[in-house]
Amino acid sequence: MTDIGTRSTAPSAPAFPDDRTCPYQPPPSYGQLTAQGPLARVTLYDGRVVWLVTGHAEARTLLTDPRLSTDRRNPAFPVVAPRAEAQSAVVLPLVGVDDPLHARQRRMLIPRFGLKRVAAMRPLIQRVVDRLIDDMLADGPGAELVSAYAMPVPSTVICSLLGVPYEDHGFFESRSRALLAADTAREAAAARDDLRGYLGRLIERKQAEPGDGLLDELVAERLAEGELDREELVMMTLVLLVAGHETTSNMISLGVYTLLEHPEELAALRADPALMPRAVEELLRFLSIADGLVRVATEDIEIGGRTLRAGDGVMIGTSVVNRDGAAYEDPAAFDVHRSARHHVAFGYGVHQCLGQNLARAEMEIALRTLVERIPTLRLAVAPDEVVAKPANTLQGLVALPVTW
Ligand code: HEM
Repeated sequence: MTDIGTRSTAPSAPAFPDDRTCPYQPPPSYGQLTAQGPLARVTLYDGRVVWLVTGHAEARTLLTDPRLSTDRRNPAFPVVAPRAEAQSAVVLPLVGVDDPLHARQRRMLIPRFGLKRVAAMRPLIQRVVDRLIDDMLADGPGAELVSAYAMPVPSTVICSLLGVPYEDHGFFESRSRALLAADTAREAAAARDDLRGYLGRLIERKQAEPGDGLLDELVAERLAEGELDREELVMMTLVLLVAGHETTSNMISLGVYTLLEHPEELAALRADPALMPRAVEELLRFLSIADGLVRVATEDIEIGGRTLRAGDGVMIGTSVVNRDGAAYEDPAAFDVHRSARHHVAFGYGVHQCLGQNLARAEMEIALRTLVERIPTLRLAVAPDEVVAKPANTLQGLVALPVTW
């Protein structure tokens, strides 16, 4: 039986998502979900009951199954927050379309996000990070780390990669945040329209005066040759701009908080900076900031002893999946020595994060340099005064007051 239209909260289907009480732990209420096996029933804010995948093996199997769609135009696509109520009105490139359209869009971008291109960006990332730390040290002691560091690092880097003027960062950071966390569909649509207007004007400028960013390349090669239309290019740039900074910013600030709250792990990293790539992977697993990847089944699927029916909503609970005891030993422990590979913090399958190489480089450089250059870094408030972002948006910190 499909659940579309169900509006009552079944007692066996707890509310999802729930707020984190500790910024780096899944909400306590998620503990009961795994008791239902690798797939649980959960209730969304609008009363609809959907599947929540909690098993690691099942999540990876389903994320590679073409019978699960990310196309928000499907009327059965789950609406996870009021801001997404009008989601079917807009085609979201990449993350919101299925193959073959998805593959065509992704192919145009892959070369820019490969390991070689990202390695070439490391000196730029290091310069950005060093300049921000210089500024914090000059203005300190004491800083609010989200606005002084965690946000400007990825924001500067994605602007440079795309060829978007960093002077405009205040505008698109606030609009991206509104898009990801607006309370209503109207506010989200207004934020999206502002960004669309801005990017449309920027593309016109680039047609007149080409630069050397990814957007310039797409304008010159793909738009000019008719491979991309204007609206598709605007929306693709919007997805990259939004995906490229709020995510990494949340990982940097929450990563710093998690390290400060685990002094033994931080000491191990200080003693052996070569551990940093492992620590970044472990932070991705442990923090799972993109919790609840959304899909809809387009055909019946048998998995984990359950039958998902065509039209059923499916969510991948990455924070639970990444702590599956069948995949990780002592999964609740934060351990910078472990090999946390195979986590699904970047998703898995065809939609696996396009920016993952870049995000890893930014996190490694930002965390290593901060720990090295400000060795006495500590929280400026009690740990429980640090406020986590609410459920239903990317997980992270509202602010992180630190001192040294
Ligand atoms: C640590 C930071 C990041 C995290 C945790 C993260 C997480 C994710 C996740 C979970 C997905 C899969 C969504 C799904 O399957 O529904 C995704 C997709 C994506 N990410 Fe990231 N991301 C990060 C950084 C970035 C950066 C820096 C960029 C770009 C500059 C980026 C661009 C994208 C794009 C374009 C997609 C869609 C890919 C597709 O559908 O083919 N992300 N990301």
